[in-house]
Amino acid sequence: MTEESRKSIHGQWSSRLAFILAATGSAVGLGNIWKFPYITGENGGGAFVLVYLLCIALIGIPVMMSEILIGRRGRRSPINTMRMLAAEEGIPKLWVLLGWAGVVAGFLILSYYSVIAGWAVAYVFRAASGVFTGVTADGIGAMFGDLVGNPEAQLGWHTIFMVMTTMVVARGVRSGLEAAVRFLMPGLFVLLLVLLGFSMNTGYFEQGLDFMFSVDFSKLSTAAVLTAMGHAFFTLSLGMGAIMVYGSYLSRNTSIAKTSVVIALLDTLVALIAGMAIFPIVFANGLEPASGPGLIFQTLPLAFGHMPGGVLFGTLFFVLLVFAAWTSAISLIEPAVAWLVENRDMNRVRAATLVGMITWLLGIVTILSFNRWAFEFDFAGETKGSGIFDILDILTSNIMLPLGGLAMAIFAGWMMKKTSVVDELKMGEGMLFKAWYVVVRYVTPVAVGIVFLNLVGVVRF
Ligand code: PHE
Repeated sequence: MTEESRKSIHGQWSSRLAFILAATGSAVGLGNIWKFPYITGENGGGAFVLVYLLCIALIGIPVMMSEILIGRRGRRSPINTMRMLAAEEGIPKLWVLLGWAGVVAGFLILSYYSVIAGWAVAYVFRAASGVFTGVTADGIGAMFGDLVGNPEAQLGWHTIFMVMTTMVVARGVRSGLEAAVRFLMPGLFVLLLVLLGFSMNTGYFEQGLDFMFSVDFSKLSTAAVLTAMGHAFFTLSLGMGAIMVYGSYLSRNTSIAKTSVVIALLDTLVALIAGMAIFPIVFANGLEPASGPGLIFQTLPLAFGHMPGGVLFGTLFFVLLVFAAWTSAISLIEPAVAWLVENRDMNRVRAATLVGMITWLLGIVTILSFNRWAFEFDFAGETKGSGIFDILDILTSNIMLPLGGLAMAIFAGWMMKKTSVVDELKMGEGMLFKAWYVVVRYVTPVAVGIVFLNLVGVVRF
């Protein structure tokens, strides 16, 4: 292939920084601020956090490198990238299924992601109206209950968020997005530090740290290990083609290894700070760490309701949370949209509208799973309370993304010729390359494999 034909028809990031910002925008989202604290709470804290961190370092970063390198080599939507690389590397065409599975996962994830992001939009207005001022834990619990118990209201917020997402995707990922991430991400970070400052003064900061960082393996269940691994993929946006499609817009001379490490570090930092800000508030107010998907919506308003300038900070915080979710949401449908543009000869506006409408419809299932359709079920010994929402979450984060990421590691480690991989990574063949190669060929497949075997009861730990 010539250099010329390796250009993406969708355009390219303007710089390495632009890619880092976009990929970080994809990675940092509800996963860090909403999901990480609540699943840490549900899974007992310390030991879960440790497994999560190990998964980020040992599986997440190497898989991210594989996913970016595959994307940049293919320069097309994930579906067409897989098709083309399979032909170029002389391996079975069946690998195209990996692209398709990613598109399906993207639809499923965004369908519930948008509903939760809709809650965040609702909380912007609540925060701005001042209803959090002086509120009690019971009061804020009731407010949250009103929202999730009301399908019509949630449908409205979900619709707003889906329209926002579709609009950006229709304009093309680059314009708008780059600017948004450049200013808003640092803003979010600063507000998290404000929250952290508040939590340090609750008198429960140490208890929060203790919960998050003191490791007690007896609290670690099979489901917890699977959830920690799945979340490493989810939070880094891996395993479904989002990072692959962003990689396909990346210039050929950017270091894939360095960028992956930077993105993973930023993402992890945000999640840990969110956790450290939230748990002290949980303990100070006698709340339950395991209260599920409502956790941040029931704790953070308490902080904003009791700090000076809380109306302003609270409003800003939820605005920025919506932005963080927004920059993640667009990456969830970009693989599908890029494919429609390539294969169905649609323009971006029509492609984005079609994809947006399908996701919007699917989202209704999640909305109803918090009220009319709610049911409980047991998953690997844990009780889940929100029916189809929990099923979608387990299916996508804990199963589809790890399997997708595993397949990408195998593709880069075993299927592609070593010369192609070396050529694309541009890091030579020194120690670092060797370490990465061993990890994607052996460590990632074995680790993901063991966790799955454990889930189906073949291996016990
Ligand atoms: N990483 C995003 C978050 O943490 C979610 C996401 C998952 C985005 C998969 C794209 C792909 O919020």
